[in-house]
Formats: sequence, C-alpha cells, structure tokens
Amino acid sequence: MEGAPVLLVFAFVSLQQLLCICSANSRLTLTLTQPLLPNQTLLSPAKIFEFGFFTPANSNRWYLGIWLQKSPTKSIVWVANRNSPLRNSSSAVLNINNNGDLILLNQTNQVIWSSPNDGTPGRTQNPIVRLLDNGNLIVVSSEDPKRFIWQSYDYPTDSLLVGMKMGWDLRSGLNRKLTSWKSSDDPSMGDFVYEMNPAHRLPELIFRNGSVKLFRSGPWNGVQYSGTPDVKSNAMYKFIFVDQGKDLYGEAMSNDDSVVSRLFLSPSGLLLRQTWNDKILDWVLAFNLVKDICDRYGLCGVYGICNIDEPFVCKCIEGFEQKSADDWNRADWSGGCRRRTALDCNNRDGFQRFSSVKVPDTAFSWVDKNMSLGECQIKCLKNCSCTAYSNTDIRGSGSGCVLWFGDLIDIRELSEGAGQDLYVRLAASELGAQVVQHGGSGKKKRPVAVLASIIVVVGTLLVILTVWCFIKRTKWRKKDQARSKLLSWRKRLDIINGVALGLLYLHRDSRLRIIHRDLKAANVLLDNEMNPKISDFGLARIFGGDETEANTRRVVGTYGYMSPEYVAHGLFSMKSDIFSFGVLILEIVSGKQNKGFYYRGGDFNLLGHAWNLWNEDKTLELVDGVMVMEDELSRCEVLRCIQVGLLCVQQRPDDRPTMPSVVMMLGSDTTNLPQPKHPGFYYDRSCTDEGPSSSENFSYGNKVSFTQLEGR
Ligand SMILES: *[C@@H]1O[C@H](CO)[C@@H](O)[C@H](O)[C@H]1NC(C)=O
Ligand SMILES: *[C@@H]1O[C@H](CO)[C@@H](O)[C@H](O)[C@H]1NC(C)=O
Ligand SMILES: *[C@@H]1O[C@H](CO)[C@@H](O)[C@H](O)[C@H]1NC(C)=O
Ligand SMILES: *[C@@H]1O[C@H](CO)[C@@H](O)[C@H](O)[C@H]1NC(C)=O
Ligand SMILES: *[C@@H]1O[C@H](CO)[C@@H](O)[C@H](O)[C@H]1NC(C)=O
Ligand SMILES: *[C@@H]1O[C@H](CO)[C@@H](O)[C@H](O)[C@H]1NC(C)=O
Repeated sequence: MEGAPVLLVFAFVSLQQLLCICSANSRLTLTLTQPLLPNQTLLSPAKIFEFGFFTPANSNRWYLGIWLQKSPTKSIVWVANRNSPLRNSSSAVLNINNNGDLILLNQTNQVIWSSPNDGTPGRTQNPIVRLLDNGNLIVVSSEDPKRFIWQSYDYPTDSLLVGMKMGWDLRSGLNRKLTSWKSSDDPSMGDFVYEMNPAHRLPELIFRNGSVKLFRSGPWNGVQYSGTPDVKSNAMYKFIFVDQGKDLYGEAMSNDDSVVSRLFLSPSGLLLRQTWNDKILDWVLAFNLVKDICDRYGLCGVYGICNIDEPFVCKCIEGFEQKSADDWNRADWSGGCRRRTALDCNNRDGFQRFSSVKVPDTAFSWVDKNMSLGECQIKCLKNCSCTAYSNTDIRGSGSGCVLWFGDLIDIRELSEGAGQDLYVRLAASELGAQVVQHGGSGKKKRPVAVLASIIVVVGTLLVILTVWCFIKRTKWRKKDQARSKLLSWRKRLDIINGVALGLLYLHRDSRLRIIHRDLKAANVLLDNEMNPKISDFGLARIFGGDETEANTRRVVGTYGYMSPEYVAHGLFSMKSDIFSFGVLILEIVSGKQNKGFYYRGGDFNLLGHAWNLWNEDKTLELVDGVMVMEDELSRCEVLRCIQVGLLCVQQRPDDRPTMPSVVMMLGSDTTNLPQPKHPGFYYDRSCTDEGPSSSENFSYGNKVSFTQLEGR
C-alpha cells in the first residue's frame, strides 16, 4: 500500500529530470546570432507547442515543423519544407537574415527552403523568431514586436488551428488553404485540398480530391456557410467571415485559449475537427465535417435534392423528373433529373420557392450584393440561361442577389430555419401545379440519420461537439431523470434499438470507424420524444482501414462499463464498446441506469446478478419492478434483450457479437440466439487496495491492476 506513493514520487522526479534534460536544447527565440540547429527546438512560452527538426515515422527525410510539445509521437501541425526535405540533418541549420527571411541550409550550405515572402525588401533589422502558444511561428523586429513580419499561420499545411484564417489575400494572391500530407510518412502535398472558392465574390469552402469535388460548405450567407447550419458561434467559439475587398477569409476565434483544437485534413481524405486531450495525450475526434451521405457533392445529380430524413435520400425537385428511372431504382442518382416542361424564356416563366435549403454549387453564378430580391428576379428572367436566384445575405429581411446559370447541382434540404430560400425557374404550367412542400415540418425521422447528425455534426470551421452536447445535456438530463421511472417496456426497447443503431453507425456505416470508449447510460441523451442520441465523444477514437484494436497506456472511461481487456490491458476495440452496450441493455431492463452501481464496493453486481438469474432460469426477475410490460410478447422481447445483453458482456472479446449481429438479434424474434458464456465481470472491491501489481489476470474474481485507471 505504501509502495504506490513512493513509486509515484519517483516517477515524478524522473519526469522532471527528463524535462530538464530536454529543455537544455529548447529556447524561446531564434535570432541573427543564434540560429537553430538540428538538436535544438523553440518552445512556446507556456510549452504548448514546439518547433524544430523532425523526421516522420518510416521516413529518413528531415523536416522543420511545429508539434504539440506534450505529444509522445510528435503530432505535427505545421511543416515548413514539406516539399523539400533534408536528406541528412547533420550540420543543417535554420537562420534568420536581416531581411526577416527564415533560411534552411543543408550540410553544404545550400538553401533547402526559405520562408515565402511578398518581396518587400529591407523589412527589418534585428529580427526575432518566436513560437506563440497558439502554434504560430512569427518573425518580428525587435523595434516593433507587435507587428508580424512573417507568420506560419499564413501558410497552413494540413491543420487549421484556432485563429488561423482560411481564404484569400487578394493583393498578394496568397491562398490560405489546407492540403493533406501525401501519406502519414510523407508531408509533401497530397491530393486532398480544402479551400475557399476564389472564382467570384460568393465565397464558399470546397473540399476536393485533385479536381474532383467531394464536399462544399455552401456560400457564406451573413450568418454561416449555407450548407453547414450546425456551425454557429457559441460560448466557446466565434465564427466570422471577413470581406474587406482585399482580404476574403473565414476564421474561428476561441474564447478559451486553453483548448487546443484543429481542423485536420488527413492523408486519406478525412476532414476532421479534433481537440487535443491532455489526459490521453492525443487528438480526439469532435466531428467529421462530411457528416452524412447528403454531404457528398452532387449525390443526387443535377436538379436532385437530398434529404437525410427521407428513406430514399434523393428526389427530383418539383417540376423535374428522373432522367433514368432504372438508375434511380438502383440508388444511382448521379444521372439526376430533367425538366418536365421546357422553359418558355419569354417572360412567361416563374419561380418556385424552396425554403431552408443548402443552395446549389455556385461555380456558375453571378453576384450583386446591392440588389434586392425583386430586382434579382427581374434580372434572372431576362436571361434564359439563368435557372435560379437567391439572396446573398439572409440577415434581417435578406439582401443581395445571386443568379445561377446552367444546371443546378448539390442542393440539400435542411431542417426548418437552418437553410435559406432558393427560387428555381420553372415553366408557368409547372408552377400552377406546385404546392410549396418545404420547411421540414412533419418529417419522419430515421434514427440512424438523426444519430449520425449528432455524432458528426458538419461544420466548416469550429464547433466542439462535446460543448454542444453539454449545453443540450443540461436541458435533457433533468427531464430524463424525472421520467426514467415512467419508461414503459416499449420505450425502453426503442431506446435500446436506437442506441444499437447509433453504435452500428459508428462501427460500420460512418466513413470512419469510431470507437466511442465511454458508452454509458449518462451518455445517452433523450430528447422530447425520448429518442436516444449517443453523446460525449470526448474519448472516441477513429480507426483506419484494417485496424480493429488499439492499445492505450492510459485507460479512461467509466468503471463498470469497461470491458475486462480494456481495464487490464488498455485494449480497446469495437468489442469493448459492445461490452459497454451489453451493460447498458442490462441496466435499462433492470432499471438501474444512471446509478453507477455495479462496481462500487458491496453495492450490487449487475452482471453477476443477471448471470445467476439466467442460470437459475429466473431471468425475468431482473426486470425493473416499475416497468409496465404490455403483454406476453413483451416478455419474450425482454428475455431476448437480456440474452443479447449477456452475449455482449461475455468475457472473451471474440465471443461477443458484432454490432450488425446485435442489431439483427434485437430485431428478429425468430433467430435462435447462442447461449451466453459467463460474463467478463472481474471487479472485486476487496482487491483494489493492493496497489499496482503486475497481475493481468482478469477472470471472475481475480485481482486486477488499476495502475493507470482514471475514472470519469
Ligand atoms: C548540438 O549540435 C551542435 C552541432 O552539431 C553541437 O556542437 C552541440 O554540442 C550539440 N549540443 C548538444 C547539447 O548536444
Ligand atoms: C549525414 O552526414 C554525416 C556527415 O557528413 C555522415 O557522417 C552521415 O553518414 C550522413 N548520414 C546519412 C544517413 O547519410
Ligand atoms: C544540399 O542541397 C543541395 C541542393 O538541394 C544538394 O544538391 C546537395 O546534395 C545537398 N547536400 C547534402 C550534403 O545533402
Ligand atoms: C481520390 O482520387 C483518387 C484518384 O482519382 C482515387 O483513387 C481515390 O479513391 C479518391 N479518394 C477519395 C477519398 O475520394
Ligand atoms: C453598393 O451600395 C453601396 C452603398 O449604397 C455603394 O457604396 C456601392 O458603390 C454599391 N456597389 C455597387 C457595386 O453598386
Ligand atoms: C446570360 O448569362 C450568361 C452567363 O452570365 C451570359 O454568358 C450571356 O451572355 C447572358 N445572355 C444574355 C442575353 O444576356
């Protein structure tokens, strides 16, 4: 028992020593007389970021870059010489010259890289290079330390940190954009780009793979990017858009400097909002910008409109019909739609209003910010190739005019009030037959879609999902506590099924495979209709291609929901989420949700209790006393649920079902379920006072080492 603190103190001391050794070669400034050598780094004042030489894993090239100081794997957020690596770092040196230029020389004193400048000569004397705590590497003159002569923030690589601008400096032609690394070993420019559309004065952000568009944010409409209604200023972040004639950019500003967050464009083409987690020393996913299938550029083809709440997401906009019914029946919508009735083009056409949409691609559009909507309509009618118009700014009663020419593509129906009005040109005869059907009221919600939108809220700049959830949760929590007692079996089953679909989405359907790692009753939010939503992705991990399991030295999560292999070995996988889900099912059935009960000493062991009742053929005794079971059918469903729950919490991960089979087992009353083996409950209160031990045996009743366990 006394060994633990001593061990801790020792660990602490050696960590301190380690830091001291490191900092001998770390400093705060680079000057004319003090260049940066390969064995040295610059630190930001609060030691958040570090700048220096690095070589990526599996590479023998050297680069200059900025990384999170605490990150064990040097998580790089900026690279200077991404396209011109050093082959050998020995004797390389980074200088600053009298002009304020950073110059990287190799062994033979040849210039490998220099900081791009706008050609202004004689910019400074006594330049000083510093790294700021927001990750910005700056050059200032000693006379005027507030004015940045040069800053790395103007040249983003694959990470957009808070405070970085995205867009154009039209004087110098500087395009501040994100470009992915070629691979995780190679920082050179990859094919994925996220940038502001420069073509005309209707700015929007385009995500592309080479020249192929993957996603667009929709144009800035004075409040937000029109296709990303979830990204709005909130307590933590402020989103602004600046159009100063010479400068055109979007920016996210943080109200809390202690949160490090980035928009990250991964080498495999994922556009992710991540926040740095100081506990696990790694980035965690806040959300994926491309949140669902309707965000896929042009999914429904020309004149098609996407609605994620419909069973078939694509349909033709009114007045149009499918070009190829066969293709549409095969869910290939890319061919799109065509007009039912040709335009008259002689002033006898009219316009159909579509409310609350993400407006179509503006690649072929024309803008006048001074025109009214009425003038806009007249202007559009005068030119036969004009197909639609809208306001450029939706604030107040709306202002400005944008006209579209040619086919309309990439339109999306958003929930009521989230989008803006679009007026599409139709022949007069078509208009007669139209009834305005938009606005989103009375839509049937598909659980997967709803969950999806919670899981990965689309955004162009910044929104931290967890913050958002926190705000929602404070509202929801009160309600669900008061009402949880009243939940009928039907409602409970809906919740179980809803969470199952959400988890299925995370594990299989989302473009990313996401392990939640902290699934528990408290993280299941209920809205007014008691629809469940999985929340709190603070610990979630993304899995790439073939990866199915990962190891973490620091186990974070919630006692009682964590699978034995996760607690004991730090191994988490989809199967550890399944375990948590199993616990959740048993909790919901037994009415013990939100109690945090089963692991706390002497209280009540749910898994053990359920397992015993199962073996004694008294399974229904597990059921919550206040629960209203409607009929005999319900009893079968309850038994089925408990059996699925027990299958999910089996000790061996391989024995546990996958999420697709869980969903199948829950949804079918004919499938024969396998017999569960004994559950992986291992926790025995009396064992925890033993301090760290090397025992990693976690079978029933055995001792477990909790060395790095952190409860939440
Ligand atoms: C760093 O490298 C330089 C030149 O290679 C060398 O002179 C110096 O001793 C090194 N410093 C340390 C602390 O290793
Ligand atoms: C780098 O250069 C040094 C000094 O010339 C040399 O000793 C070393 O072998 C080189 N390393 C590589 C990987 O070429
Ligand atoms: C230094 O850089 C130049 C230009 O890229 C290259 O030709 C030369 O081989 C490099 N020298 C060493 C020692 O790597
Ligand atoms: C990007 O484009 C390349 C080449 O066209 C293609 O092979 C790859 O699948 C694309 N990736 C994505 C994510 O669209
Ligand atoms: C738009 O209106 C403003 C103020 O009324 C005016 O200063 C500006 O010149 C106008 N711009 C155009 C393009 O007409
Ligand atoms: C209609 O608009 C297109 C696109 O702006 C333009 O090329 C064409 O000249 C216009 N036609 C007329 C008659 O103004």
